[in-house]
Amino acid sequence: MKIMLIDEPLLKSVLTLATLIEARDPYTGGHTWRVSQYSVKLAQSMNLSHDEVFLVALGGMIHDLGKIAIPDAILNKPERLTDDEFMKMRQHPIVGVSSMSDHPLADLVRPMIEEHHEKHDGSGYPYGKHGEETNLYARIVSIADAFDAMTSSRPYRKGMPTEKALSILTEGAGTQFDPQLTPLFVDLGKKGVLDHILGHSAEGRLLVGCPACGPILALPKDKGDGDVVCCPNCTGKYRIHRKGDHYEAEFTGVLDPSMTARPDLEEVQDFLKESPRALWIPG
Ligand SMILES: [Fe+2]
Repeated sequence: MKIMLIDEPLLKSVLTLATLIEARDPYTGGHTWRVSQYSVKLAQSMNLSHDEVFLVALGGMIHDLGKIAIPDAILNKPERLTDDEFMKMRQHPIVGVSSMSDHPLADLVRPMIEEHHEKHDGSGYPYGKHGEETNLYARIVSIADAFDAMTSSRPYRKGMPTEKALSILTEGAGTQFDPQLTPLFVDLGKKGVLDHILGHSAEGRLLVGCPACGPILALPKDKGDGDVVCCPNCTGKYRIHRKGDHYEAEFTGVLDPSMTARPDLEEVQDFLKESPRALWIPG
C-alpha cells in the first residue's frame, strides 16, 4: 500500500478535463457521470476500499478524455464506422493517456483511460490484453461504459431497456467482459440499484429530451416546471413542463446563438465535496 496526498486544485483540474469531454460532445448527455456512478456501484459491491472506490469514480469520469481529439464526423456518426474511421476511434485511449501524461495525478487514472476498451478474450484495443492482464479498475469501467452506451438514447436511436442491456452483458461475460465482475453488475441492475443513475446527467439532474436533438438537456438542479432551458446542441430554448415523474420540453421558438456546450462546474463541485484528502492505494 502507498499513501498519496490529494491536492484539491490538482483534482479539480482532472475533473474539469473530464467535464470538457461532455462540452465537446453534448450528445453524450451525462455519459461520464453515469459511467462513474455505475463503476462506483460495482466497486462497492466488490467490497473495494473507500479509496479504491474513489479512484474508480474518478477514472469513470475521465476514461474517455481522448475523445476530445476524435472528429465530430466520426464521434457522432450514426452508421457503422469505416475501417479508417474505426482506426482513428481506436486511438482515443492512447490519446487520452498522452493528453494527461504530464499531469501529477495521471498515474491514478491512467489504466482506466488506457484499458477501458480491452476485452476479456483479448479482442479489444489498444493492446489486445487478455483477462486479468487488464487493470481491475479498467475492467470495472468497461462494464459500466458498455451498459451506459446501450441504455442511453442518442438522437438517432433510443436506448435499450435495462433488462436487455443486462442480458447482453451476461452473454458477453467471459468474452468481452470480466466473467467474475459481470454477474455482480447484472445483479445490481436486477435489484434496481442502478435505476436512479439511468436517465440522469448528475446527482438529482434529470435528462430531458430536446425535441430536436434527443435526451441531452441536463436540467440544472434549480430548474423545474415552467422554467426555460437551452439545448447545448441546437441552441433552442425550451420551456419544461412536468408530466408525472418526468419533464417534457416545448420549443419557445427562440434560439440562443451564444449558447455553447461548456464544462459543468456544478458537477465538479459535487465531486470535490466527496473526495478524500489522502488515498491509501494498492501498489
Ligand atoms: Fe471509450
